[in-house]
Amino acid sequence: MNNTQAFIREHRQRFLEELLELLRIPSISADPKYKGDVRKAAEKVADHLKNAGVQEVEVCPTNGHPIVFGSHVVDPSLPTVLVYGHYDVQPPDPMELWESPPFEPVIKKTKKHPDGAIFARGSCDDKGQLFMHVKAFEALHKSGELPCNVKFMIEGEEEVGSEHLGKFCKANKKRLACDMILISDTSIIDNKVPSITTGLRGLTYLEVEVTGPNRDLHSGVYGGAVANPVNILAQMIAALHDKKGRITIPGFYDDVEVVRKSERKAMNDAPFDEKSYMKDLSVDQLWGEKGYTTLERTSIRPALDVNGIWGGYIGEGAKTVLPSKACAKISMRLVPNQDSQKVFKMFKKHFESLAPKSVKVKVTPHHGGAPAVTPTDSLEYRAAEWAMEQTFGKKPLPQRSGGSIPIVALFEEVLKVKTVLMGFGLNSDAIHSPNEHFGLFNFYKGIETIPYFLHRYSQLKAK
Ligand code: BES
Ligand code: MN
Ligand code: MN
Repeated sequence: MNNTQAFIREHRQRFLEELLELLRIPSISADPKYKGDVRKAAEKVADHLKNAGVQEVEVCPTNGHPIVFGSHVVDPSLPTVLVYGHYDVQPPDPMELWESPPFEPVIKKTKKHPDGAIFARGSCDDKGQLFMHVKAFEALHKSGELPCNVKFMIEGEEEVGSEHLGKFCKANKKRLACDMILISDTSIIDNKVPSITTGLRGLTYLEVEVTGPNRDLHSGVYGGAVANPVNILAQMIAALHDKKGRITIPGFYDDVEVVRKSERKAMNDAPFDEKSYMKDLSVDQLWGEKGYTTLERTSIRPALDVNGIWGGYIGEGAKTVLPSKACAKISMRLVPNQDSQKVFKMFKKHFESLAPKSVKVKVTPHHGGAPAVTPTDSLEYRAAEWAMEQTFGKKPLPQRSGGSIPIVALFEEVLKVKTVLMGFGLNSDAIHSPNEHFGLFNFYKGIETIPYFLHRYSQLKAK
C-alpha cells in the first residue's frame, strides 16, 4: 500500500492533466449531435484503462452509446470488484450562466474548495469520479500491490436512463461476474464530514401534453371563450400537491416504506445547517411535505417536480396568442417500496382525470428505475467505512441520497451482488447545473481511498 500511495503522490499532476483532457470531450448523451464525441470519450476511457494495465479492454457497441468494459484477473481465487461509472454528461445549458466554457476545464478556488476545484461539465458527475478508479487501479497495478481482480463497466447512457445497459448486463452475466459493485457517483456530506451513500431514490420520468384548439389563436379574438392549454396545464400541475406539500395522486403513498423512528433520528443527527443550505441556494424559505425535515424530504420521502414547461410564445417581446398546446416534463423520485411503472400508471390516470373536457391530454413515459437501499452491516460497507476512516481521519456516516442511479437495483437483481456507493462529490458541486465543479481535494482523496478499500475488502472477504 505504501508504494501505491507514493505512486499517487508522484503522479498527481499527470492524473489531473489526463482528467482535464477527458473533460474536454463533450460527451452529451442526450443530444444526437454529440454522438461522435460520446464515442470519442468511450475510446479515451478505454485507452486509459489499457495504459493503466487492465488486461482485457473493449468498447462494446450497443443500440445506443457504447459501454466500456475492462477486466483484470490477478488470480481467479481472489475476489472480484466491478467498478461502475458513466462517461456521458448532462447537456450544459443554459450556456450563458457558465463563468467559463463547460468543456474547457479551469481550476478555481471556492469557499468549499480552498485548494481549488475543476470547473467543467462532467467534472464531478461522473468523469472525475470514474477517473479516480482508473488512476487508483493504475497506482495499485504499477506498484505491484493490486489485492484483487477488478472489472470495469463504464457506460455512456446513464444521464438518459441507461436504456441499453440492462440488456448488456443480462447478455454478459458471465463476463460481469463479480463479488460486489463499487460506484463513485454520489456525494459526501462535507470534506470534513465523510459519508457513504446507503440509499438512492427511484425515478419515474414522463412528459405531458395538453392540447386545446387545433391551432394557435388570436388571444383577443378568442381569449375568454376557449380554454387556454397553458392556463389549464398550470392548474393541473398545481393540483398535483396539496397544502401540506403531499402528492395528491390517489394511492401514491400506499407502498412508501415507513422508516423507523430510530433511523429517522440517526438521519437527523447528521450535521446539516439549514441556514447555510438556504443561503447557498438564495432562498428565504424551504418547502416540502409537512412533518418531515429537509434531510428526510430529500431521502426517505418521494417527490414530484416539473423539470421543464413550455407552450405558446417565448421569443423576444410580445405576441398575442392563445396557444394550441402546452407541455411539461415531470419527474417523480421514488422510495422503497414504490414501483416505477405502477407509479406511472397512477400518475397517468390521475392526470387525465384532472383535465377538463375543453382539452385533450397525452401522458408519455420516458424512463424510470427502482430505488435502492444498501445495508450498513455488510462486509462491503465495513470495508468502505474503514477505507474512508484511513484517509479522512474520521469514520464516515451512512446517508441516504435523493438522487437516482436506476441501474443499481438491476445489478442486485441480475448479478446478485451488493453495491457500495462510495462517492466523493459535494452536493454543492453544481452537478447538472452551470459551473459544475469537482474539488481537487475530493479527486485525490478518492484516488487515495479506493486502494484502501480494495485491500480491506479483499482481506475481509478472504477470512
Ligand atoms: N450521479 C447522479 C445521481 C446522484 C447524484 C446520486 C448525487 C446521488 C447524489 C446521476 O448521474 C444522475 O444524475 N442520475 C439521474 C437519473 C438518470 C436516470 C437521469 C438523476 O438522479 O436525475
Ligand atoms: Mn452520475
Ligand atoms: Mn447525473
